[in-house]
Amino acid sequence: MSTLIKNGRIITAEQDYFADIYIEKEEITTIGKDLKIDADIVIDAKDKYVIPGGIDAHTHLDMPFAGTKTCDDFESGTRAAAYGGTTCIVDFAIQTKGNKMREALDTWWAKAEGKATTDYGLHMIITDLPDADIEDMSDMVKEGVTSFKLFMAYPGVLMVDDATIFKALKHTSKTGALVCMHAENGDVIDVIVQQALAEGKTAPIYHALTRPTTAEAEAVNRAIALAEMADAPIYIVHLSSNDALEKVAEARDKGLPAYAETCPQYLFLSIEDDMNKPGFEDAKVVFTPPLREKWHQDKLWAGLKKNTLQIVSTDHCPFCFKEQKELGIGDFTKIPNGGPGIEHRLQLLFSGGVSEGRISLNRWIELCSTNPAKMFGMYPRKGTIAIGTDADIVIWDPKKEYTISASTHHMCTDYSMFEGRKIKGNAETVISRGEIIVKDNEFLGKPGRGKFIKRDTYGTAWQ
Ligand code: URP
Ligand code: ZN
Ligand code: ZN
Repeated sequence: MSTLIKNGRIITAEQDYFADIYIEKEEITTIGKDLKIDADIVIDAKDKYVIPGGIDAHTHLDMPFAGTKTCDDFESGTRAAAYGGTTCIVDFAIQTKGNKMREALDTWWAKAEGKATTDYGLHMIITDLPDADIEDMSDMVKEGVTSFKLFMAYPGVLMVDDATIFKALKHTSKTGALVCMHAENGDVIDVIVQQALAEGKTAPIYHALTRPTTAEAEAVNRAIALAEMADAPIYIVHLSSNDALEKVAEARDKGLPAYAETCPQYLFLSIEDDMNKPGFEDAKVVFTPPLREKWHQDKLWAGLKKNTLQIVSTDHCPFCFKEQKELGIGDFTKIPNGGPGIEHRLQLLFSGGVSEGRISLNRWIELCSTNPAKMFGMYPRKGTIAIGTDADIVIWDPKKEYTISASTHHMCTDYSMFEGRKIKGNAETVISRGEIIVKDNEFLGKPGRGKFIKRDTYGTAWQ
């Protein structure tokens, strides 16, 4: 199978130029002006952008949580991702306490088997790290699972202590793998939460009001200090507030390898605009860290521009409002934490970022594709458009207008966090390893075609 993409404007993290692209089987084999090569499929990309497929480095598909599980599995989740121009995800396998990481890896491979419609990698969430099992981290790295998430929040469930974090960091400092940190001070938050419940404050908004930005900043600071002592890099996931951002900026000013991502929900939603709704509505935006006051948004955009933040991921963790979010009626601590976002990251960042003059076209690609590929050991195979790389390519129509809605989205949830938001710019044709999987709003990819990506280590990938 061969495909020729003609007349497009190719945008990568570094370049912006007009050329044709020839794809043979799964790879880009030729790039040049006015190519005269016969191909099985010819796509005219005139007036369109030709961009590397998006990479979402933070998703939770088919994940058990709070007595239920996320409603998108690897089939529906990767399909929704592809509709929005994301051709690769990195999902989180969870080691459960008392069990081996290998068991979690097998479980997540089984979840993806026969279902994934795009390529995917896996991070490993560590919940338990006895000294006898520390070498299991090396086994994971050999399998291409080269990043590990640890939690400083959710005491009694996912949270680990500083000694465990330090040991994991010491290990990644040897192997070149990367620790991804959920940074919030879980013990302090728990005290505040118990006090709120005792005062009868049970509505969803108290999820946000019991998780202060200082609890996030303190944990970010501690995580970076632990990484410094272990001589290891650190990546802060789903950073939500200016207080936390300042801690990352301070570390980077000192020259430390501290990195962070934020998510569209923190860039576009706020307590003022999206909470304090009638009834139980606020549960739709209960995730962790929570929504913040609106003024934090400009600070996060500035962080993206200055490279204090290197990546935008979704933290796609979808639960339906009916029956799933509703588990928390009368007690906000029982609301499954998480929101749906895998489909709309590129659109939101293009429409609300590039078109609003907040970031450049090249930076859009860097944040949504190139940097995730570099940070998580997939570059240059993925995250760019170059000869010899995987043909994960999106033909992007910058003029396409539509309105985000649960009635038309492809995620499993019965609501959208961005309901009614008007967007200009969308994926028109989506190619994954040379195969057209979305064309004109029709999904053509077969479940199970997506491959597990054995990732390289951070140390060799991030130059
Ligand atoms: O609320 C969230 N973010 N749920 C997913 C789990 C996590 O902490 O990433
Ligand atoms: Zn987290
Ligand atoms: Zn998450």
